Amino acid sequence: MSVNLIQEISLPYDVTLCIQREDLVHPQIQGNKYRKLRYNLAFAKANSYKTLITFGGAYSNHIAATAIAGSLEGFKTIGVIRGEELGVDLEKTLAQNPTLSSARDHGMDFVFVSRSAYRDKDTDEFKRPLLKAYPDAYLIPEGGTNKLAVQGCAEILDGHGANFDYICCPVGTGGTISGIIESSGVQQKVLGFPALKGGFLSDEIKKWTSKTNWELMSEYHLGGYAKMDAVLISFINNFQKKHNILLDPVYTGKMMLGVLDLISKGYFPSNTRILAIHTGGLQGIEGMNKKLLQKGLPLIQYTE
Ligand SMILES: Cc1ncc(COP(=O)(O)O)c(C=O)c1O
Repeated sequence: MSVNLIQEISLPYDVTLCIQREDLVHPQIQGNKYRKLRYNLAFAKANSYKTLITFGGAYSNHIAATAIAGSLEGFKTIGVIRGEELGVDLEKTLAQNPTLSSARDHGMDFVFVSRSAYRDKDTDEFKRPLLKAYPDAYLIPEGGTNKLAVQGCAEILDGHGANFDYICCPVGTGGTISGIIESSGVQQKVLGFPALKGGFLSDEIKKWTSKTNWELMSEYHLGGYAKMDAVLISFINNFQKKHNILLDPVYTGKMMLGVLDLISKGYFPSNTRILAIHTGGLQGIEGMNKKLLQKGLPLIQYTE
């Protein structure tokens, strides 16, 4: 499926800002997840794998998307989840966690591991017992980032991307921005907005692309991965009211906050055309609202 849904955001500045609604790219698998999984699932099918095993945190968009994509394409799915405490009382965890509960509803089974074991998830020692238990399994890394994912993300800019001077996107593991960089023109600049503190991200991106027309804007992670404050929540709620576009608090909210901050500070020259990629992630809002409630922060307003 190819969607070029570009929406202009009206602003009181002499630049043009458009949002590419990748969150609408597929009815169930949003944004960069659809792009990342597309060629991976085609590869798994072509090579007769029957099971998909992947890795993520308790609210991972990638876990949610893999469960759905796997069930649509006829794969058994296994999610290796960070946090062994979540497996102690699974029914309680599922009752409290909309991401895992949805993944379970789509047939995913879970392996809960401690944070220290999870850190070793890319080692052969970690993978060996999994592959022994599921010999027909295709392993997809955390966040879905691999060569085939980057190939899929290179299609995000198909066609219309050339009309813009700057392309902006959120960054987690670096796969999405790498695909975008690969398909960008040399005259364009790609700006990444990391959702986490991570000096390591530049090196991750350099694994997938040798082009240099990109930069990470590292001041908008708000303290780290899934860290949220009242300013971000109120920004997301106001953005939704004003432009009728819902953003998530982990990735796209931080990116848009950053893009608008840069615009207001005059970072972009006059008449610049900017394209921000809405990479989805909206499934995570319900779970994040539970966290916000616990912290006594305002909630993200949305209708299901
Ligand atoms: C909604 C959303 N946007 C952006 C990203 C960042 O993508 P990447 O991990 O490829 O950098 C993620 C995480 O994968 C995500 O879930």
